[in-house]
Amino acid sequence: MGVTPCRTVWLDGKFVDLSEATVPVTTHALHYGTAAFEGIRAYWNGDNLYVFRLADHIRRLKRSGSFYDMATTYTDDDIARAITGTCARNGLRESTYIRPFFFVGEWGISLYVRPEAPTRFAVIVFPLDKLFNNGGISVGVVSCRRFNDASTPTQAKMSGNYLNSIYATIEAQKSGYEEAIMLDQAGNVSEAPGANIFLVQDGRLITPDRASSALDGITRDTVVRLAKSLGIPAEFRRVSPGELHTSEEIFLTGTAAEVVPITSVGGRAVGQGPGPVTRSIMEAYADAVAGRGNASDGWLTPVYPA
Ligand SMILES: Cc1ncc(COP(=O)(O)O)c(C=O)c1O
Repeated sequence: MGVTPCRTVWLDGKFVDLSEATVPVTTHALHYGTAAFEGIRAYWNGDNLYVFRLADHIRRLKRSGSFYDMATTYTDDDIARAITGTCARNGLRESTYIRPFFFVGEWGISLYVRPEAPTRFAVIVFPLDKLFNNGGISVGVVSCRRFNDASTPTQAKMSGNYLNSIYATIEAQKSGYEEAIMLDQAGNVSEAPGANIFLVQDGRLITPDRASSALDGITRDTVVRLAKSLGIPAEFRRVSPGELHTSEEIFLTGTAAEVVPITSVGGRAVGQGPGPVTRSIMEAYADAVAGRGNASDGWLTPVYPA
């Protein structure tokens, strides 16, 4: 899916035009995938643009880099101001996707990344409405397995890791599915290439646990908390692939994907379209990101002064 980034970009502490936000071909991250990144959304609620769970995304961004001893001189406040400032300078008043990332710059061909390795920091933003059809998508379980902690840390959101997601997506799309479901090394359900998975069984939510190599999604955490407030219990555990065919409802969660129902797995229908639990979670999520309901304390950061 092509996107058009907004003209103003934050690069290394300054707001610059997109045409000036360039890096040399010698940039380490281009060669070795040494870039820590986040995907964040901001929502326009009629009065202001609100960045959703900004502090949690900044925390995860820094943690991702720290797995690889990457350091940045920017504080959490600097990063927060860079993000809200980039949105504001582009005058955004619609659903927005925010991509902050920091990456190793000039470090030759050394594979020994250390805190002294110079890093660069950028924030780009662009309008983004729905990533998937809210009415539901088809998925297929792909043959390529999710990488696990025995190879590289699964909780580090690093650009290099996304080759695994890209490989899985290519297989799913070439097989005629809209999205892939990946299994972990042990053959249990892990996640989609860029989203977590939930199953609904007997009115309960089930999602693969950490040992299943799934990223600890911020949307997943939001959904678990919202479910609790709706009286819907949620469980983290191993999920066998067979459960993809015996669950009443299945949905994906992610910042970009939001909450999206899965209507078929491997060509077999899941229920009769998006079910009641999925619908109530979708509604609660839409309320939370817009600052409606009471479950969103501290989750919204305004872009424009009140
Ligand atoms: C591999 C993977 N899993 C899950 C998610 C969902 O995470 P979040 O809800 O924090 O966006 C993402 C998106 O960042 C992802 O890339």
